[in-house]
Amino acid sequence: MEIVGDLVRLRTATVDDVPRVIEILTSPSVAEWWGDYTVEKLEKELKDPKTHHFVIEVDGRSIGFIQWWEEPEPEFRHAGIDIALADSVQDKGLGTDAVRTLARHVTREVGHHRVTIDPAAANTRAIRCYEKVGFKRVGVMRSYGRRPDGSWYDGLLMDLLADELE
Ligand SMILES: CC(C)(COP(=O)(O)OP(=O)(O)OC[C@H]1O[C@@H](n2cnc3c(N)ncnc32)[C@H](O)[C@@H]1OP(=O)(O)O)[C@@H](O)C(=O)NCCC(=O)NCCS
Repeated sequence: MEIVGDLVRLRTATVDDVPRVIEILTSPSVAEWWGDYTVEKLEKELKDPKTHHFVIEVDGRSIGFIQWWEEPEPEFRHAGIDIALADSVQDKGLGTDAVRTLARHVTREVGHHRVTIDPAAANTRAIRCYEKVGFKRVGVMRSYGRRPDGSWYDGLLMDLLADELE
């Protein structure tokens, strides 16, 4: 599947993308927020049918990874998004376009009314990026995630309702 944004193109990730995606996820500025990643872990995640994984492309180059998953229970139905961009392409507006493009897809094509995203509370660049898309701060989730060294960090729950999206 392909989803075309203003700046980026999202295409379904396959096992052939694993080496490049691992290179992106293990680079220092991504690993700081995504934790430890191995080929085995990524290959297992790509096989999970509940999550939809995409490579982010610009001019045919693979520059990032983005995925969405859904809570299927009818009473709580919603989607969630995660994203990582290669070091060299951060801070150029590409993350905002990729998240906006995928959020449009899950609301307009898949039919979700609400999308969540959960950056570390200290990840101020990610929070700013998601606010540009229209996500709102819901609240801090204390000791939400675990770092590779075993320590816990706070997360920020953010959400977006379909009619808040440009
Ligand atoms: C987070 C990420 C997806 C954002 O994508 P991006 O393309 O770099 O972001 P954009 O350029 O679209 O927007 C970044 C915004 O944050 C601002 N910013 C940059 N560094 C910042 C910082 N340390 N604190 C606050 N804002 C910051 C930029 O100025 C820009 O805002 P502006 O357009 O108002 O000037 C990308 O940087 C990334 O993948 N980072 C590493 C992995 C990661 O953190 N993933 C998210 C985990 S939840």
